[in-house]
Amino acid sequence: MLPLKAMGKQQYILVTGGAGYIGSHTVVELKAAGFIPVIADDFRNANRIVLNGLTELINEEPLLHEVDVCNSTDMRELFEKYPFVGVIHFAAYKAVGESVLDPLKYYHNNIQGLVNVLDLALEFSVLNVVFSSSCTVYGEPEGVKVVNEDSPKSKPNSPYGNTKAIGEQILADVFKSNPELKIMNLRYFNPVGAHPSALIGEFPIGKPNNLLPFVTQTGIGKQQELTVFGNDYPTIDGTCVRDYIHVVDLAKAHVKAINFLSSKEDGVIEAVNVGTGNGTSILEVINIFEEVAGKSLNWKFGPRRPGDVIEIYADASKANRLLEWQAEYTISDAVEHAWKWEQTIVDYE
Ligand code: UD1
Repeated sequence: MLPLKAMGKQQYILVTGGAGYIGSHTVVELKAAGFIPVIADDFRNANRIVLNGLTELINEEPLLHEVDVCNSTDMRELFEKYPFVGVIHFAAYKAVGESVLDPLKYYHNNIQGLVNVLDLALEFSVLNVVFSSSCTVYGEPEGVKVVNEDSPKSKPNSPYGNTKAIGEQILADVFKSNPELKIMNLRYFNPVGAHPSALIGEFPIGKPNNLLPFVTQTGIGKQQELTVFGNDYPTIDGTCVRDYIHVVDLAKAHVKAINFLSSKEDGVIEAVNVGTGNGTSILEVINIFEEVAGKSLNWKFGPRRPGDVIEIYADASKANRLLEWQAEYTISDAVEHAWKWEQTIVDYE
């Protein structure tokens, strides 16, 4: 396939949520591949500190517009300003527990943001669309815990998960009536780690919801103790099992997705798992952290967290086949990079 950059034109890609965790790493990889990423982010769930690291990594200030994806007037200005060849839509809330407590916050932002982006993409003929989906669309896998894109889906376990499943459904419906679109739903497993340079990484606002930031914050003393949610699951050691994918590998999958879509003459819609194919339990993550950091972690068992899937990991062979992508980093690399990052942001709250 011919990468867009080889076609000699300036290739602007709209990256909604591009100042966020996965978005910022993707901006770096897009730039390295010759694209011009344009960030749309209102910093409601991102920290401006990331801009310093981004500037250093891409050797210039990123093109950044502080807009809310739900504000269609402001978003329209971006589409008028830049001749986008594609859009990667990250901007969304992602905390499973919070979504159970405040579902409308999730339906409003995650669904309306997607609908706005699609409206404008259609109006301005921006045909290549990559959507941040999640393995959460599989719900709790029955029987075999390794899922491929055709595995049966049960209902997602949370409103957050529903917004991803509904998002995919919206894209499928829009594709039916606009078959010229080229759409890829990237189903992320559990993104972790940070850029190996430790110039960018995850910046949880408030108490982290996700496991690895909680582990590293406990390691550095920002949190007193990690609670492991549940120890009586039918898994290798009683704790939940996930497929932890390094954020840089995940970011690279987006560049491959854009190149794949743009190489297609005709419209297409695909869903692709982005994971390593390996399952790791929470206790295994703690062990890896203790080895990497050379210190023991303060943790205890607590009750199960409502809405948790027990065990799931990716069959990532489609990503390999379609995108020529596979994970390069291991979970140990991811923990090492996350720990290095935590130590560089020790003074920030
Ligand atoms: C889910 C999605 C993932 C998505 C993410 C967004 C699934 C299987 N995964 O991740 O695709 O990107 O939401 O946030 O649906 N844990 C603790 N203590 C803590 C924090 C977490 O024990 O303090 C445990 C959780 O109970 C879970 C595991 O660690 O078993 C991973 O949790 P987390 O990092 O929150 O991710 P998921 O909910 O699996």
